[in-house]
Amino acid sequence: MRITKTFSLVIGLIVIGLVIGITYAAEKTAAENYKQHCVKCHGEQGKGDGPATKTIKAMKMADWSSKEAMDKFKDEDLTKIIKQGGAAVNKSKIMPAYKEKMQDGEIKDMLSYIHSLAK
Ligand code: HEC
Repeated sequence: MRITKTFSLVIGLIVIGLVIGITYAAEKTAAENYKQHCVKCHGEQGKGDGPATKTIKAMKMADWSSKEAMDKFKDEDLTKIIKQGGAAVNKSKIMPAYKEKMQDGEIKDMLSYIHSLAK
């Protein structure tokens, strides 16, 4: 009886561990990542007017809601700045690097998300 209880407890813990592991390994949607990481600087619509721009005045980002402004960027450059941060591409070092926080697939989705904001 005692063995069975311990055994089911162990199995239970393994199952819980697996569920937690899978949840954390799962990629987040671009909208979730955007809300969590980017809105504070780039703003809800990507206009570069997030709440942090009130305290850090030196930030000058492109207006992602403007197709004309976004056409000036190549996808590979946008990917690089998201992965490696502003400093790596001779731009503002205020722009953080996200290669540790987002998987390649998530960065790819983020790119589509950014383009979807442009009208
Ligand atoms: C702490 C503020 C801050 C956060 C947070 C931030 N960025 Fe930026 N980002 C900047 C700044 C400042 C620039 C402008 C760099 C330059 O041109 O010198 C920039 C530039 C960019 C660019 C190049 C196009 C442009 O607007 O100039 C992309 C793409 C970008 N960020 C994506 C992201 C993504 C995606 C996230 C979230 C995962 C994010 N950023 C989070 C500050 C931030």
